[in-house]
Amino acid sequence: MQIPGFRDEPFEWYRNMRNHSPVVKDGKTVLVFKYDDCKEILGNFRVFSSQFRDFMDREVAAQLNLMAAPSILILDPPKHTKMRNLVNRAFTPKRIQSYDGEIRKIAETLLEQEKNTQFDLVTSLSYPLPVLVISRILGVPEDQMPKFKEWSDKLAMDLGRMGVDLALQKEMSEYFGKLIDERRRNLGDDLISLLIESEVDGERLTRQEITGFSILLLAAGNETTTNLIGNSILTLSEYSGSYQMLKEKPSLIQSAVEESLRYRSPVQSTRRVAKENYNIGGTEISKGDFVSVFLGSANRDEDIFTDPENFIPDRKENRHIAFGEGVHFCLGAPLARLEAKIVLEAVTEKYSDLRAVKPSPDDRLDSDIMYGYRKLLVKREN
Ligand code: HEM
Repeated sequence: MQIPGFRDEPFEWYRNMRNHSPVVKDGKTVLVFKYDDCKEILGNFRVFSSQFRDFMDREVAAQLNLMAAPSILILDPPKHTKMRNLVNRAFTPKRIQSYDGEIRKIAETLLEQEKNTQFDLVTSLSYPLPVLVISRILGVPEDQMPKFKEWSDKLAMDLGRMGVDLALQKEMSEYFGKLIDERRRNLGDDLISLLIESEVDGERLTRQEITGFSILLLAAGNETTTNLIGNSILTLSEYSGSYQMLKEKPSLIQSAVEESLRYRSPVQSTRRVAKENYNIGGTEISKGDFVSVFLGSANRDEDIFTDPENFIPDRKENRHIAFGEGVHFCLGAPLARLEAKIVLEAVTEKYSDLRAVKPSPDDRLDSDIMYGYRKLLVKREN
């Protein structure tokens, strides 16, 4: 099925699809665009599975390295529930809130280091920040940061394939394996130590599971948060007056972050595989069909949101599904929200104005899953 070049903004295509073909089936591929249909699919793990490897050729799944220790992202309950309970402790809102000071320091240092009045926001701020934050949280030593950045880059490229390349997997596994062994001998208050200690109903995570989970955090958390920050600044620049509005009323920053998540969702789509035949919006989905759920379209559904094609930073009711829905709801959502809020606070406190220069479509990520810019020039005023 031809998906429009994602170099073009996808939003007009989504609007057309919602209005004329809200569910499209072409061979074994199904595309879903309406909010209620997307929620129904993501909320029903019994029919719509994340365990793709069960439906793939064993050889393909092995190539994508989905066989050994699958991450929670591609497990269904009850295995998913067990894993999720074990890792949940590390991501409670209280624990995430405790990183506030650390994240603020990182944001302020990165801004302080940037001396030019025109700079690339991605290189200077939105890319390094989540990598530095997750490395601190995992307890990775400072001198390993360049390595982490390199892995993060490669993982971002691999995410669309739902697997990681074997050489990279091996390199990261060896690194995390050693880190885990070290922490076992000398527990700290970092996330890896917490995962080692985590126990639910007498079950603990294996070394391989902790390794896999750490890699998932790099893959799922970095590029998405980079894009949330970049998309927020870009959208504030396009809607004149909104930067000043946040500067004068910082209490609105949290709702502006939510609106940015809705308006330019960093993850535009996710996938499921049907385990049974199922009718959605009048279209028959067959067992074995791969279903793409367009979160970015659901979040602009005119039946759910008032004035959905407009960015309204103080929008009152915002039930977007940018972090997904159901059992796989993003584990890192509180962290991503906190990072974006702190960045917008730090930026609006520091600069009287910060405006993105209209980016070239060529700088958009060429992906039908991720929405964001590789490069985003901004001009600041002190
Ligand atoms: C703006 C930033 C982010 C967005 C938009 C985002 C979006 C999502 C979405 C849509 C899902 C569900 C995928 C599905 O159902 O197939 C998800 C799952 C997940 N996310 Fe995020 N994410 C973000 C940041 C983060 C961060 C910072 C972390 C961790 C450091 C993280 C870790 C995870 C994990 C572990 C899962 C899998 C949860 C599960 O399967 O139970 N994410 N994310």
